[in-house]
Amino acid sequence: MVHGGVFITGAASGIGRAWALRLSKKGYGITVVDLDLEGAEKTAEMIKSMGGEAQAIKCDLTSYVDQKHAFENHIKAYNTLDYVILNAGVPEQGDFLDPQNKNWDLPLNVLLEATLIGVRQAGLIMHATGTKGTICVTASDLSVKENAWFAPCYAAAKAGLLHFVWTMAEKFEKEHHIRLCALCPARADTPLVQSGYFHETNDMCDTGTDPALTANEVAEAGMILLEQPDKAGKAMLIESSGSIYALQFQTANRTPIGSVKGKA
Ligand SMILES: NC(=O)c1ccc[n+]([C@@H]2O[C@H](COP(=O)([O-])OP(=O)(O)OC[C@H]3O[C@@H](n4cnc5c(N)ncnc54)[C@H](O)[C@@H]3O)[C@@H](O)[C@H]2O)c1
Repeated sequence: MVHGGVFITGAASGIGRAWALRLSKKGYGITVVDLDLEGAEKTAEMIKSMGGEAQAIKCDLTSYVDQKHAFENHIKAYNTLDYVILNAGVPEQGDFLDPQNKNWDLPLNVLLEATLIGVRQAGLIMHATGTKGTICVTASDLSVKENAWFAPCYAAAKAGLLHFVWTMAEKFEKEHHIRLCALCPARADTPLVQSGYFHETNDMCDTGTDPALTANEVAEAGMILLEQPDKAGKAMLIESSGSIYALQFQTANRTPIGSVKGKA
């Protein structure tokens, strides 16, 4: 018997799967949403074999209609939306300025737009049902780092996600009693990293010298973000050393260089 519902995307492998398994142990019914149905079904099977409840749904999150159906199927199964973890992701592929690179904008579509579609759908359902739920997006340490030249659209999308959380978290909390937060992990050893550009070293971008985190370590930190809001705040950074930090919003450092007020 479950006592709540979790909708988690990108949980066919990696961080999402590790997080889904942890949430299931807490007694939630889990909707595992992914483009990779086989992987999503494997996650659901793992949950069931541990005595939990789960369903796998194939969904291309870049489609508003597909996502709407996935949320509807979640509500049909569990009737409550306590946690929504928007975690699906793709690596950057190819060089930004390569004219042959047809996939240059995929990270923007999947990591930013599709995630905001998910925030909107989740927010609408939570508002309509009066659920004081939590919506958590998986951003990245690259959300707050410069010179990630090996993945510029990925970094831009992840920075956009974090900025969306800074922008909307208080309004969601005050007007709808919905918590909106972001997890910002450093490099973790998952299929996404193994398949993409991220193995490249980059002296300009402080990616640290520690070995990559494991998906389990990131999911463990994710549980702290979900369960200890007073400590973790709106956004939590996990460094490759394993240290975790509550992130505060900071405006970029500025150097005064003059004024145009009254001059035009
Ligand atoms: N691994 C890292 O180093 C790292 C670091 C920081 C943030 N992240 C983020 O963590 C999240 C999870 O990634 P991961 O590292 O566990 O990789 P992963 O490849 O194991 O998981 C990503 C999942 O997203 C799914 N997905 C991709 N496009 C989709 C779409 N259009 N619709 C539905 N599902 C789709 C994939 O099928 C996959 O199962 C991602 O958002 C990633 O950007 C990863």
